[in-house]
Amino acid sequence: MNAPAGQNPEILAARDDFPLLARPMNGRPLAFLDSAASAQKPRAVLDGLRDFYESEYANVHRGVYLLSAQATDRYEAARETVRRFLNAGRPEEIVFTRGATEAINLVAETLGRSGRLEPDDEIVLTVLEHHSNIVPWQLMRDATGVRIRAAAADQDGNVDVEAVFREVTDRTKLIAFSHVSNTTGTVLPAREICHRARERGILTLVDGCQAVPHAAVDVADLACDFYTFSGHKLYGPSGIGALYGRLDLLTSLPPWQGGGSMIEEVTFERTTYAPPPARYEAGTPNIAGAVGLAAAIDYVQRFGSENIQRHESVVLKYGVDRLQAVDGVRLIGTPRHRAGSISFVMDDVHPHDVGTVLDREGVAVRVGHHCAQPAMRHFDVPATIRASLGIYTHASDFDALVEGLGKVKGLFQL
Ligand code: ALA
Repeated sequence: MNAPAGQNPEILAARDDFPLLARPMNGRPLAFLDSAASAQKPRAVLDGLRDFYESEYANVHRGVYLLSAQATDRYEAARETVRRFLNAGRPEEIVFTRGATEAINLVAETLGRSGRLEPDDEIVLTVLEHHSNIVPWQLMRDATGVRIRAAAADQDGNVDVEAVFREVTDRTKLIAFSHVSNTTGTVLPAREICHRARERGILTLVDGCQAVPHAAVDVADLACDFYTFSGHKLYGPSGIGALYGRLDLLTSLPPWQGGGSMIEEVTFERTTYAPPPARYEAGTPNIAGAVGLAAAIDYVQRFGSENIQRHESVVLKYGVDRLQAVDGVRLIGTPRHRAGSISFVMDDVHPHDVGTVLDREGVAVRVGHHCAQPAMRHFDVPATIRASLGIYTHASDFDALVEGLGKVKGLFQL
């Protein structure tokens, strides 16, 4: 097929920055279509990590010696990079976590222990949530007696503001939702949800894992109270992520994990706690992870989030159009606004079989429930095949996918 018009030549060339993508897979060129699970890493991140370990590594916030002071500067500079990336007001509003899962657990647990919630208060989620934005709230529900309600999606996979606010009552204390669904790629109307919630005094937490690699995010404009993302989906290392929290909230919530760095003074009778963000970063943090995450953010910002969004939307539309034209393929979710991911099923072939055949053709996709079982139930499928893209994805990767689906059809005599 002809390459689609409107692609950005600089972003097309970005693929060469990712050494792993040159590795043949099962004797075929690799078509890596699983960036929503975890993205590949550019040389800028790999080199940045190596340089940091080779020339500046030491523990942070502890040593009086130069090396430790330099490592601390790098770690805090990474926090500033994340602050700018999200347009948060203050670096203290950025907490480094292991990833979005840990960040959501942090908020759920501390909110649960804060005394701000009473039994019968309510939390609203959506049916498209990843388990990481469901289970932490259930654990908190079991400890506090709050109720959980889930906003519906329509059959195309859209979640409208009205659907969210249909679940909102006078008891609603928090709305937690993904900015972009990891299954259907639905872009939720995050700004409208957060603004309406704020007018009603309801807190919001936005899971931005599938959003930050594909578009600019501005927490001030969104008016959210918490926003989180994982570094490994943004071309950074795994084991690092960030939580943005409004400073007054982070200041008033109780500590989460106890340990070094999160205290002011410890006696056996009583401990006083450090202000945020240190209060929520007990123990030695993932120092190099934070430095690597900053390198990843610097990398994507060289292209500009708006340019990435425009370019990827062209490639994504190409993928949708090509898949829709394959006989026997049914898209799961055809949302009005989509980023990052396309889910589909094939008549009479289990997604796992499709995934296995595609792997032999060098095409890497994720198959299964995508840690979103309620979404699978909503669409009445046990599993889907998901193709997801990143900055390095070319239209030819979707050509390889469609060619691979032809092999599936041949094998299964469809
Ligand atoms: N949350 C990641 C995904 O959707 C692992 O694939």
